[in-house]
Amino acid sequence: MVSLVSEFLGGGTESVVSCIEWTLAHLIIQPDIQHKLRREIISFSGVTSPAAAAAPYLRAVILESLRLHPPVPLTMRHVTSPRALEDVLSLQPAGDGVRVHFILGRIGRDGEEWRDPDEFRPERFVAGGEAEGVGPLPGPKEVRMMPFGAGRRFCPGMGLGMTHATLFVAALVRGFEWSPAAAGEGGGVDLTEVDGFFKMMRTPLRARATPRHDDARPRMT
Ligand code: HEM
Repeated sequence: MVSLVSEFLGGGTESVVSCIEWTLAHLIIQPDIQHKLRREIISFSGVTSPAAAAAPYLRAVILESLRLHPPVPLTMRHVTSPRALEDVLSLQPAGDGVRVHFILGRIGRDGEEWRDPDEFRPERFVAGGEAEGVGPLPGPKEVRMMPFGAGRRFCPGMGLGMTHATLFVAALVRGFEWSPAAAGEGGGVDLTEVDGFFKMMRTPLRARATPRHDDARPRMT
């Protein structure tokens, strides 16, 4: 019981923290994306409004972060069906089956599925983009990313995780301007990943958060 509860609490918090940290790192390196996101965010009456959770560019930023840096590095399945092993995975059925590891980060960076897969480009997820309609869970016909796993054992906290990550990032971008803590190219932001139980930044993010006082809605032109 204790281990189940700790898995639930740990799995439900560290995963969201990882997603927020990676997202902020990209917004710092690419301030143009941060500004575009902020313009969308300040058009809502508040970051907890339903409009915020459904905002297309905000959602696209979170999906792009989850595609590149899925907080859970891999999922496992014990596959016993000979048909699944032979036809889908091209493996020889053996003994009592095979344990298959799905490396989630590699799926999201597959160069045959994604244009410039290593680039952080949220525009791919908005209307007209190459990934319009792709969501956090794979559809029945194609798997282009699966940050929350797939099938019967997909993450039961997906809705909560997406909502937390989305609204946290919205609040942080609305309230602060995010810039590098250090001078120079990339400002010391190191995007090298370390895979443990969660995908973390090898060098934890250090940033300058400057409070914003210009919370006026954008002028319509
Ligand atoms: C951005 C946030 C999150 C990400 C990326 C994430 C990702 C994942 C992944 C990849 C799995 C394995 C799924 C599979 O094997 O197919 C998983 C399982 C799980 N997640 Fe999450 N998760 C997140 C947030 C949460 C939250 C908020 C909770 C609970 C409050 C939660 C609870 C769980 C539990 C209990 C499992 C195990 C399910 C099982 O074994 O059947 N997760 N998660």
